[in-house]
Amino acid sequence: MTETADAMRKLAGRPTAVELFAGAGLLSSAFAAEGFRFSLAVEQNVIAAETYKRNLGPHIRVGDVQEIEAVGACDVLVAGPPCQGFSTLGKRHAHDPRNKLSLEIGRWAKALSPKIVVVENVPKFLESIYWSELRNYLEGLGYDVETHVLNAADYGLPQIRRRCFAFASRIGLPTIPSAGGFRPSTVRQAWEGLPSEPTGRDGHVAPCPSPIALARMKVIPPGGDKRDVLNRAPHLAPKSWWTTRVQATDVWGRMHWDEPSNTLRTALLNASKGRYIHPEQDRVMTLREAARLQTIPDDWTFVGTPYQVARQIGNGVPPKLGRIVARSVRETL
Ligand SMILES: C[S@@+](CC[C@H](N)C(=O)[O-])C[C@H]1O[C@@H](n2cnc3c(N)ncnc32)[C@H](O)[C@@H]1O
Repeated sequence: MTETADAMRKLAGRPTAVELFAGAGLLSSAFAAEGFRFSLAVEQNVIAAETYKRNLGPHIRVGDVQEIEAVGACDVLVAGPPCQGFSTLGKRHAHDPRNKLSLEIGRWAKALSPKIVVVENVPKFLESIYWSELRNYLEGLGYDVETHVLNAADYGLPQIRRRCFAFASRIGLPTIPSAGGFRPSTVRQAWEGLPSEPTGRDGHVAPCPSPIALARMKVIPPGGDKRDVLNRAPHLAPKSWWTTRVQATDVWGRMHWDEPSNTLRTALLNASKGRYIHPEQDRVMTLREAARLQTIPDDWTFVGTPYQVARQIGNGVPPKLGRIVARSVRETL
């Protein structure tokens, strides 16, 4: 057999996949690592799509999922639609126009007729009318549907991150490994081998805090947050902190070395938006440190400004968790 014929035979044996709302490709990378061959991925954001292309190949198409004609076929359809409208953080609007996007998955499933559809989102998505509608639609197409909420930390990742995975299948539902039996991992372990100070290279960069942010960070101990500023240095607290006290979107949290991190979100370079302050240095984590907490390999190429890259990291499915899901799907085919 010639080398080309051999390569074609190997490719032909691999299950095919299409991903909608593909972002920078973290979930795609997990499916690819488990042997899936993507014929198409769709992403609206040009910069995220460029990161996708550099790491995973030219099958990424920049565009609006709603406007692209769904044609072709695949074994598995994967989709992680925008979650902001369902998130428990910030304002949750039942009629956020982004919520409707999840219904597109039904249109694509009908056209591509995959054996299995995988939908990833925040757990609140499962309580929405959009999920009920999509679920009913998929069941109407003949799929059996099951949902799981997985916490990345329970699967040995260094981050507490609860996400739902919904599976619709015509060939039997994937068996997701139970959470027990994975060794827990911590921020310290995730950052092993990285220079402790930002180097300014390979994404090991973090924004310099403003003088007031720096002064606040100095009084926040590991595991602490803005309440420590209120208690220890009240002159550094704006008036609004006295009225709101604890707020999920105004946190100023400092991480612990020996625990998994809290969930990374797109604003991970902003100390006020979560628990993103380094366990002992007075700065937020670098992009490289964030990538490590998301289990993104060090040789992954990011395209964009630091804030665009933070968005790609915070939006993505940690590849190590994605691989657990992808492997279960592959074993079902
Ligand atoms: C949660 S992220 C997906 C992350 C991806 N699963 C990963 O693991 O990297 C959702 C993505 O949907 C994209 N998006 C939002 N509206 C879209 C639309 N109408 N068409 C295509 N992509 C869209 C956003 O730009 C964002 O990158």
